[in-house]
Amino acid sequence: MSAAPPARLWLVGCGNMAGAMLRRWIETGTIDPTNVFVVNRQDRELPEGVRQGRAFPEGPLPDAVMLGMKPQQLDLIAEAHGARIAGVPLLLSILAGVEVATLASRFDAGAIIRVMPNLPVAIGKGVVALHGPANGSVEALMRPLGLVEWIADEKLFDVVTALEGCGPGFVYRFIDALASAGAALGLPEDQAQRLAIATVEGSGLLAGAADVSPAVLADRVASPGGSTRKGLDVLDADDALKRLLLATLTASARRNAEMAAEARG
Ligand SMILES: NC(=O)c1ccc[n+]([C@@H]2O[C@H](COP(=O)([O-])OP(=O)(O)OC[C@H]3O[C@@H](n4cnc5c(N)ncnc54)[C@H](OP(=O)(O)O)[C@@H]3O)[C@@H](O)[C@H]2O)c1
Repeated sequence: MSAAPPARLWLVGCGNMAGAMLRRWIETGTIDPTNVFVVNRQDRELPEGVRQGRAFPEGPLPDAVMLGMKPQQLDLIAEAHGARIAGVPLLLSILAGVEVATLASRFDAGAIIRVMPNLPVAIGKGVVALHGPANGSVEALMRPLGLVEWIADEKLFDVVTALEGCGPGFVYRFIDALASAGAALGLPEDQAQRLAIATVEGSGLLAGAADVSPAVLADRVASPGGSTRKGLDVLDADDALKRLLLATLTASARRNAEMAAEARG
């Protein structure tokens, strides 16, 4: 029998990312909203039934606590709430760049698992990378959010964060550039944007369903002498796109490593 997700969950911070995860958990019936408590700085709109406050309530600890604030707030949060949540069976952290050892030096928990989601978790089409001890309950919690992947080597978590955590930002830039290029060549802007979004959405779905790699798919749609090939020749010249994305991920991964160093203190 597969493990059940944690039934009772406390969150520190529930902004863009943790909020998207929570809404999906509630929508899919993974978590009962009345079993969730959020600590934040001020009341904000949360799914019906979820309680919120400036401190966690009295009573027994939950099955899991998830840290969803910014990495820069780690010490503040550890000081304010560390003692109250000491001994929680499971601590989850979505903080970019903050290592398990750094979390362990500030929080007392049965198990600590780093979680790197991305924004499409909101529609169950996200990616959730996990690092820490294997845990079926965490997998059951994350599965309704999208693809779940364990990353054994924590050193690779900065790259994973750059690729899929930051990835939606890079893809949105690409869609915007595709649409802008169409508009620059004469299409109405709104129409170019619709075409670009639908093209990326359909191509992504097709790549996900295909039994060959995206590189092979690209070659398949580009017959010699055709117009796709002419366009690909521009992207491929001197590996222009590959080099650009390598530089992009390198910059993001480096920033994650810097945040890890800052959090280590
Ligand atoms: N955004 C992404 O695409 C993404 C992807 C992967 C991982 N992450 C990670 O997710 C984390 C949050 O990012 P975000 O974009 O969701 O940020 P956000 O929208 O600014 O949310 C931050 C949350 O932290 C709360 N908070 C701040 N200070 C607090 C304090 N002293 N006590 C209690 N709660 C406090 C805020 O409370 P209020 O509601 O009261 O303001 C808010 O709910 C970051 O660590 C980031 O690395 C983000």
